[in-house]
Amino acid sequence: MAFADMTDDIAEVLFDEDAIARRVEELAATITADYAGSEVLLLATLKGAVIFLADLMRALQLPVCVDFVGATSYGGSTESSGSVRLDLDSCGDMSGRHVLIVEDIVDTGRTLTKLVDAIQGQAPASVRTCCLLDKPSRRVTDFRPDYVGFEIADRFVVGYGLDFSQRYRNLPYIAVLKPRAYES
Ligand code: PRP
Repeated sequence: MAFADMTDDIAEVLFDEDAIARRVEELAATITADYAGSEVLLLATLKGAVIFLADLMRALQLPVCVDFVGATSYGGSTESSGSVRLDLDSCGDMSGRHVLIVEDIVDTGRTLTKLVDAIQGQAPASVRTCCLLDKPSRRVTDFRPDYVGFEIADRFVVGYGLDFSQRYRNLPYIAVLKPRAYES
């Protein structure tokens, strides 16, 4: 697949690079104020959150540590499988830490409901969640993120870390795919 084929698959750009950068700065300013005087452990979900994490952490004016958790629910589909797999084995100790989970998108809420529960079992000082995108209409749990970049309608989006079948993560904007991209 050529890069031009990827961009030809885009139906609509929802948030361009400037809009994302402005919102990330705003989120970082809020988080910096909320955690003033504390060190924060940023726990990013793999793989979708890596680009958001990279931008957010550089905008935070706080001492931070970073860790990663494997989290998978979609497989190669545009619909969540309903079964969430978490891999916390390689994560460090979270007891007594201020943990801020950094997530690209919250959809059904299953992933973050399960992840927050797992971390709370490790006696952290606090656990909060920062999600770049929120699709509240899709929720099947009562999960509510603490920090949200953009609320969106129920549309399948790619770019800025988000994939379809592992592709499109490197697009610098967040966009909706043409149906042909996932129907073929
Ligand atoms: C996506 C996303 C979240 C989860 C949200 O991960 O990164 O972790 O789904 O969906 P939920 O609210 O319905 O649980 P995905 O399984 O696509 O893995 P990826 O980040 O590696 O693309």
